[in-house]
Amino acid sequence: MPSPIQNKRIVLGVTGSIACYKAADLASKLVQSGALVDTVLTEAAREFVSELTFKSLTHREVHTSLYSPNSNLSINHVALAESADLIIVAPATANTIAKIANGISDDVLTTTILATTAPIIIAPAMDANMFDNPATEANVTTLIGRGFFIAGPAEGRLASGLMGKGRMIEPFDIMGAASMLLGKDGDLSGKKIVVSAGGTEEAIDPVRNITNRSSGKMGYAIAEAARDRGAMVSLVAAPNHLAKPIGISVTNIQSAEDMKKAIEDECLEADALIMAAAVADWRPLEKLDSKAKKDKSDHWSLELVKNPDIVAGINSSKLIKVGFAAESENLVENSKTKIESKNLDFIVANDITAADSGFSVDTNRVTIIHPDGTTEVLPLMSKYDVAHSILDRVKSGF
Ligand SMILES: Cc1cc2nc3c(=O)[nH]c(=O)nc-3n(C[C@H](O)[C@H](O)[C@H](O)COP(=O)(O)O)c2cc1C
Repeated sequence: MPSPIQNKRIVLGVTGSIACYKAADLASKLVQSGALVDTVLTEAAREFVSELTFKSLTHREVHTSLYSPNSNLSINHVALAESADLIIVAPATANTIAKIANGISDDVLTTTILATTAPIIIAPAMDANMFDNPATEANVTTLIGRGFFIAGPAEGRLASGLMGKGRMIEPFDIMGAASMLLGKDGDLSGKKIVVSAGGTEEAIDPVRNITNRSSGKMGYAIAEAARDRGAMVSLVAAPNHLAKPIGISVTNIQSAEDMKKAIEDECLEADALIMAAAVADWRPLEKLDSKAKKDKSDHWSLELVKNPDIVAGINSSKLIKVGFAAESENLVENSKTKIESKNLDFIVANDITAADSGFSVDTNRVTIIHPDGTTEVLPLMSKYDVAHSILDRVKSGF
């Protein structure tokens, strides 16, 4: 299943902030995802970036004036508003946010926004004091009330050199918001899907733990793909280095026991559970309260106890349950045994010995095994595409 961004007409409004340079990256990412991108630059934006940058990236006309005789807008000034599937304003200055909130339409961007019925993402970028100013706060509140999606801003180092809230969120996150809005009426809308991701950490003492090499990438890809098809997604995430995906509720946990509790809570109202996490099978019998000292002995034995089998313990007849099996030998046989013992609808087995699949990489090569023994060997795909293949099979079980 393609990204919901593919073949969509997206108006990218760029306003006069130093964060304009990030808009070029966003335009490139949108084009790479298959969107037709019509860029609109405000007068102030043109002080920071050039028309040529966006024309080269999008291969399309860049709009700067309603009155240019060479532009279609001089024939139909609301043409962009009518053709847009989505409008993204990134970066959005305090000035443009104020104009939109007050219905002003004195340039291409604000005219297009006033005339459109398409969903609109606003990614504010400004100095922290400008964002905290009651005028901006009131304008943002007005826009939220009118159904605009306000993406960010993030906290961090601002162009002024100060730290605070006002940084434009990253293009990757704006892409997430765009996928979510464009996919909201997708084939999983109205469904709640719980996904687990990452490798649990089982504490030995306050500084050491037992964990595994799971990066969390497969679980995050499933969560994003489900969001992009309109599902309400709860991600229960063991420690990892991935950015929190926009539009997904994330519960961060550490150990298998934490994960069990979070998943039980989330599954009360869920339609599907997809266990992509690598849950530690064993944990230390006891967690030491202080760091274990390197004493005179050259050996140290840890006594381990078995962790609970999370997915086997969740019993709800209306819940579709999908397990993962990361196997290094006897992939299919071992997976079939797990389907039975965990009462799964199907299992996704991946061969973690291959360099291009399994842990850490962005691609995966999986075999889907069904309770009746049918196996489907899928080709090497991006984890996002593997995620859609899994969700197709989840959907057919609803
Ligand atoms: C170097 C520089 C950086 C600026 N950065 C921002 C910014 O990040 N956010 C903002 O709201 N205004 C910023 N401004 C002020 C805007 O450019 C100014 O308010 C302008 O009128 C915005 O016009 P526009 O909203 O039509 O693009 C900056 C101005 C300068 C000179």
